[in-house]
Amino acid sequence: MLNTILPEDLSVTYGLDSARIGSRPMVERRLADLRGCFADEGAYDAALAVANPLLYAVTAVEPSAGDGQLHYGLGILYPGKIGQEYFLTKGHYHSYRPAAEIYVGLSGSGLMLLEDEGESRLATLGKNSCVYVPGHTAHRTINTGDVPLVYLGIYPSNAGHDYGAIASRNFRKIVVERDGAPFLADR
Ligand code: 6PG
Ligand code: NI
Repeated sequence: MLNTILPEDLSVTYGLDSARIGSRPMVERRLADLRGCFADEGAYDAALAVANPLLYAVTAVEPSAGDGQLHYGLGILYPGKIGQEYFLTKGHYHSYRPAAEIYVGLSGSGLMLLEDEGESRLATLGKNSCVYVPGHTAHRTINTGDVPLVYLGIYPSNAGHDYGAIASRNFRKIVVERDGAPFLADR
């Protein structure tokens, strides 16, 4: 029934300059939260010794749980690099492995790194592009541009986040700048 959704969850207003949606809680991830994600550990430690910048923020909109319901998150990933590797999100599998997700790029330019047990692929995410993340696929967002990458991620309400599998084995590939352009390299 429509009236089980609160009016403030039926429609929200957002900007492209932050991931803030009204007074909802916004999860912030700083450089110190990303230990182990970047391949160049020396560059990571050196950067963290100087500052602990905000890398990305996400606000989730989760109006209703249960079969068939959808949740979504507004994300902003700032531009920058650690060594030659572009700023990125932690990345995760969904706890409910079959849960797929659709990313809608709103502004900026970047990539999504998608990995399953056998394969690693890059998909373009940014203004005027969407990415379909199949179920059973680890996904990480990467900002390869000079401005914030802003996007919506829309997923089944029962998806959940599993960070543990990625934290222990990490993504097999990294995206680095080479000759001025993004390049997919082995870790
Ligand atoms: C999700 C989405 C998305 C994601 C953010 C931050 O399943 O909720 O994939 O909202 O959480 O892009 O990335 P991490 O969750 O990997 O930190
Ligand atoms: Ni996800």
